[in-house]
Amino acid sequence: MALCRFFIVCLIHVCLLVGLCSGEDPSVFYDFVVSYVTASPLGVPQQVIAINGKFPGPTINATTNNYVVVNVHNKLDENVLIHWSGVQQRRSSWQDGVLGTNCPIPPKWNWTYQFQVKDQIGSFFYFPSLHMQRASGGFGGFIINNRPIIPIPFDTPDADIMILIGDWYTRNHTALSRALDAGKDLGMPDGVLINGKGPYQYNTTLVPDGIDYETINVHPGRTYRLRVHNVGVSTSFNFRIQNHYLILAESEGSYTVQQNYTNLDIHVGQSYSFLVTMDQNASSDYYIVASPRFVNESQWKRVTGVAILHYTNSKGKATGPLPDPPNDEFDKTYSMNQARSIRWNVSASGARPNPQGSFRYGSINVTDVYVLKNKPPTMINGKRRTTLSGISFVNPSTPIRLADQFKLKGIYKLDFPNKPLTSPPRMETSIINGTYRGFMEVILQNNNTKMQSYHMSGYAFFVVGMDYGEWTENSRGTYNKWDGIARSTIQVYPGAWTAILISLDNVGVWNIRTENLDTWYLGQETYVRVVNPEVNNKTEFPIPDNALFCGALSRLQKPEDISLAASKTVGRSKLFFMVLMIICAVISLFH
Ligand SMILES: *[C@@H]1O[C@H](CO)[C@@H](O)[C@H](O)[C@H]1NC(C)=O
Ligand SMILES: *[C@@H]1O[C@H](CO)[C@@H](O)[C@H](O)[C@H]1NC(C)=O
Ligand SMILES: *[C@@H]1O[C@H](CO)[C@@H](O)[C@H](O)[C@H]1NC(C)=O
Ligand SMILES: *[C@@H]1O[C@H](CO)[C@@H](O)[C@H](O)[C@H]1NC(C)=O
Ligand SMILES: *[C@@H]1O[C@H](CO)[C@@H](O)[C@H](O)[C@H]1NC(C)=O
Ligand SMILES: *[C@@H]1O[C@H](CO)[C@@H](O)[C@H](O)[C@H]1NC(C)=O
Ligand SMILES: *[C@@H]1O[C@H](CO)[C@@H](O)[C@H](O)[C@H]1NC(C)=O
Ligand SMILES: *[C@@H]1O[C@H](CO)[C@@H](O)[C@H](O)[C@H]1NC(C)=O
Ligand SMILES: *[C@@H]1O[C@H](CO)[C@@H](O)[C@H](O)[C@H]1NC(C)=O
Ligand SMILES: *[C@@H]1O[C@H](CO)[C@@H](O)[C@H](O)[C@H]1NC(C)=O
Ligand SMILES: *[C@@H]1O[C@H](CO)[C@@H](O)[C@H](O)[C@H]1NC(C)=O
Ligand SMILES: *[C@@H]1O[C@H](CO)[C@@H](O)[C@H](O)[C@H]1NC(C)=O
Repeated sequence: MALCRFFIVCLIHVCLLVGLCSGEDPSVFYDFVVSYVTASPLGVPQQVIAINGKFPGPTINATTNNYVVVNVHNKLDENVLIHWSGVQQRRSSWQDGVLGTNCPIPPKWNWTYQFQVKDQIGSFFYFPSLHMQRASGGFGGFIINNRPIIPIPFDTPDADIMILIGDWYTRNHTALSRALDAGKDLGMPDGVLINGKGPYQYNTTLVPDGIDYETINVHPGRTYRLRVHNVGVSTSFNFRIQNHYLILAESEGSYTVQQNYTNLDIHVGQSYSFLVTMDQNASSDYYIVASPRFVNESQWKRVTGVAILHYTNSKGKATGPLPDPPNDEFDKTYSMNQARSIRWNVSASGARPNPQGSFRYGSINVTDVYVLKNKPPTMINGKRRTTLSGISFVNPSTPIRLADQFKLKGIYKLDFPNKPLTSPPRMETSIINGTYRGFMEVILQNNNTKMQSYHMSGYAFFVVGMDYGEWTENSRGTYNKWDGIARSTIQVYPGAWTAILISLDNVGVWNIRTENLDTWYLGQETYVRVVNPEVNNKTEFPIPDNALFCGALSRLQKPEDISLAASKTVGRSKLFFMVLMIICAVISLFH
């Protein structure tokens, strides 16, 4: 009997192996040509960053545990790196596309990213991570589907609709970084784009003639999954659709308790899936609105995104005023309560965030506590900079992960403080010493007057609490230890804190940063270095064969390597994966 069971288990593993070698292909392939194209989303011609000539770029469509291969061709006149926001590269921060882990791809070069997405599902997006490039475009959606055998916790929607919203400047990213370098604020954006297009002319005073706007075509009676992302620079939005309810279903990789909203705040870098049923009569089109949050609305009227929801049998144009935003200009409690109402559906099947397969994050003991405090910009060495806990991050010329690989010393310091420094702020390449398989508690304290959001690469974290005032040890009593949502980007209200818990099971060097592009650019980020202390236990993929070299390692970069390297990479990582599978099969055989 027992022997028979072993045989079956073994057979399953062999089948998996065969599946890898032939038949079902677990990889998705993309070619990304990054270039400038001329567009006039707000009526002013400007150079925007396009992918394959498209602005926004194409959507990446993958499935849980897939390999994703993206060959990025840099046709800009400057370096580029593409970052996969919210996509957790399994065991390979080598592929994260931020300066702490990757050398930038120079102009005219191409570089192939290759990574396996973790046991995750959901709605994410990619964008160019260097300097202020995201302010000029280069972004697009990234979907990770459930594996076919795992049901989704709602009826299959009739279609998926990708909606990318963001504040927009008619100045390009180089002009914006020059302003920041000169110690200036970016000021009010010039508008809001929805899928790369300006607002519908709902008001002739506020919206000039001739602006191309986005139209979402739908069939009456059908239900759609809208994947809405805030890909902008620094503005939080209230998202709503005239006369339609939004059923929240997913937030950056977690199926939520499905709740009915008339509007929801979406902060910079955040992604949500809504189920929307086209249950209205088609007497007219309807407005889709993204209006700025927590700003002086009378001044920011022009900074509103408006697209059109068009039923196939619609009898006319959308008219009249936009649906009202929440009436809470002086009270952010409404918004915070709304954020707290987003909870994880703990009975939904599907890929689970870390810790894998566990609902019990609330009973895991915390190993490390970090309070990251954001303060208003300050002068350091004559430059206007932003800080986290008193440290303004400086990117090293040699990426941290690469420096470790070649045992270079003095590239960074592992001394990021657990509590905000009381000494004067300073510029430093200071990172967090993560404990492998530890459980880290991070308190994000916002001591500025602007809304902020924070992102962490490589992980989904549990959002356990947020409140006004200063966080204290007693605040832990208010934590949600049961169905806090797991996600990768969370907002922190001005004068308030947000607490997150992270299970450090993914080896690598992972970025933690403000998503607000201006304050990120000025130094609000650090990295968490997670190393398996057992040196012989291969819990990380090896350095890719096509790794680029820069900084102290520039001499290793051979120009002719570029085209030869990538073809080998796929083979090597797949081989590594197969060896893992064989070990797994052998272990289960003797279990
Ligand atoms: C960006 O704008 C500056 C002017 O502010 C201009 O000199 C530069 O050519 C622009 N760059 C691109 C790529 O359009
Ligand atoms: C994405 O991939 C899934 C599974 O392979 C497929 O069912 C779906 O139609 C694809 N969606 C798009 C928009 O290509
Ligand atoms: C560059 O692209 C070519 C195909 O266009 C590919 O063969 C090569 O491997 C790529 N180089 C890198 C470093 O990814
Ligand atoms: C949670 O997920 C389960 C299982 O898929 C589903 O049946 C249920 O409707 C969901 N509950 C809510 C409140 O969303
Ligand atoms: C258009 O917006 C302006 C400025 O907010 C406002 O005064 C005017 O009443 C609006 N027009 C209509 C038709 O709503
Ligand atoms: C959402 O709530 C509204 C008002 O309570 C209700 O009319 C509508 O049917 C609800 N939608 C769903 C899908 O529950
Ligand atoms: C269609 O819906 C609109 C908005 O709810 C309403 O004002 C209008 O009277 C309805 N028309 C018909 C024919 O039901
Ligand atoms: C908003 O701006 C208007 C016009 O500049 C100004 O009169 C008003 O006082 C401002 N409101 C607030 C709350 O700052
Ligand atoms: C957590 O710590 C407490 C007290 O130090 C200990 O009793 C408990 O067993 C620990 N729980 C786990 C899951 O390690
Ligand atoms: C980093 O943490 C590990 C334990 O996780 C410890 O052994 C090591 O000494 C720490 N390194 C530094 C520089 O603090
Ligand atoms: C910033 O911190 C100081 C000192 O703790 C506090 O007095 C002040 O109210 C805080 N401001 C905000 C906006 O959080
Ligand atoms: C290697 O690491 C994994 C995950 O941390 C652990 O489960 C396994 O027991 C380790 N293997 C050895 C031989 O130490």
